[in-house]
Amino acid sequence: MNGLLVDMNLVKKYSTEVFMYVEYPHKSFWSLEFKEEDFKTALEDLFLRRKDIPLLLYVHIPFCLQQCLYCTCRTVITRNYEKIKSYLNLLLREIDLFRNLFDKNSVTPNFREVHIGGGSPTILHEEEFDLLIDKLQSIAEIKNLSEFALEIDPRGMTKEKLRYYRSRGINRISFGVQEFDLNVQKAVNRVQPPELLEELLTPEIKNLFTGVNFDILCGLPRQNRESFRKTIDIVTKFSPERIALLTMCYSPEFSKHQKLMNKSEIPDLCERTTFFLESTQTLLNNGYVRVGLEHFAKPTDDLSKAAENKMLFWCGLGYTPGRYHNVIGLGTSSTSVIGDCYAHNVYELSNYEAAVTNNVFPIYRGHKMSNDDVIRGDIIKALRSYFSLDYRQIEEKYDIEFEIYFKEEIAALDEFVKDGLVELSDNTITITELGKVFTGFVCRNFDRYVAVAQTA
Ligand SMILES: C[S@@+](CC[C@H](N)C(=O)[O-])C[C@H]1O[C@@H](n2cnc3c(N)ncnc32)[C@H](O)[C@@H]1O
Ligand code: SF4
Repeated sequence: MNGLLVDMNLVKKYSTEVFMYVEYPHKSFWSLEFKEEDFKTALEDLFLRRKDIPLLLYVHIPFCLQQCLYCTCRTVITRNYEKIKSYLNLLLREIDLFRNLFDKNSVTPNFREVHIGGGSPTILHEEEFDLLIDKLQSIAEIKNLSEFALEIDPRGMTKEKLRYYRSRGINRISFGVQEFDLNVQKAVNRVQPPELLEELLTPEIKNLFTGVNFDILCGLPRQNRESFRKTIDIVTKFSPERIALLTMCYSPEFSKHQKLMNKSEIPDLCERTTFFLESTQTLLNNGYVRVGLEHFAKPTDDLSKAAENKMLFWCGLGYTPGRYHNVIGLGTSSTSVIGDCYAHNVYELSNYEAAVTNNVFPIYRGHKMSNDDVIRGDIIKALRSYFSLDYRQIEEKYDIEFEIYFKEEIAALDEFVKDGLVELSDNTITITELGKVFTGFVCRNFDRYVAVAQTA
């Protein structure tokens, strides 16, 4: 397979599910005891240290018109626009909660990036989108944002609407593409021919935006090497600035609609790995720079520059160019990263409504990182972003002796070394080309929470 050979015995050996560490520790280890008081304290502590600290804002619109069968995002499927309007009103109230907190602390928040995602935020009509932008303007100086990004469902999208988004300040657009093969699209209840994107992504429209992102999904039912090859070829012709090449997470016990996919049509692990590796190579051959395990960007894009300068930041939005490390999440299921704290909002609309109408931040759970968490989080971030780790950098940053602190973890890497996935030198861990697809397992080696849970 043209230099893409991966030993399928290894794929089978490392076939257990492993999470890809959006946060460390993983959300499943966060505490339900962490409530809004802790969240407010974290924010106030942050502003005590620096009032103008740069911030990233994420706004979540959980609604979609139709259920894509592969989707594991927490969405609400509805065609009842009144329900969406009610949610928007709550979101505006949540923004007011933040505004009051900022005012109380005499803070003019320094939001530098805003991302609106979902679900499908493009479900909002212009009238409601205007309301949202006008309210956001009360806490964020939109014209000064370095990135103002919007997730776009191409179905039902028009060039007029894209021009409208630009007029409201949006400068980056991210399209859910997933796969272009019609047979696959039918199997996942999401039919969206390439012509749809061709009509939208004219040179005039592309020029309006600083960047376009495509989300592509590997491992969908009925996908085969040929269909996925064609999809990636079409993707490269569209030439988006960024590509997220994701592998379908399959967890029908949580996302029950996944059971509606025909399991026998889902490519097995070996096939998925083959599609992933082959498309990775195609993207690299087409001039894309690999950013972490599953993101690709043009060399001119801020994301590849940040990867080169080892500045990447990774949060629920995927990779960002790392200019800002504190995130405020608005809306159901959003995650905030405030100093050394994570906070996760409630999932259910009813719980969200109950909190916000009582002027309470809708916190469901959270985590205050210990010093050990910060060190391990940094190690995991380096491995998943750059496939290498320099012990000395960690030693200097955290005043520890790496080989002593991580004696057991380094010893446990032997198995990966034997399998050719990792190379060790005196002071570095390097994940080999072969090992990249198994990065999650190398990261897990440094996860104290998983280790404790396994011995419990
Ligand atoms: C909020 S959606 C994107 C915007 C819009 N809703 C759409 O679908 O066009 C976020 C992305 O999550 C990814 N995603 C959804 N389900 C997934 C799964 N089971 N595994 C991995 N990625 C998934 C998809 O690639 C999807 O584009
Ligand atoms: S992929 Fe996008 S449109 Fe489809 S259900 Fe998920 S969030 Fe909604």
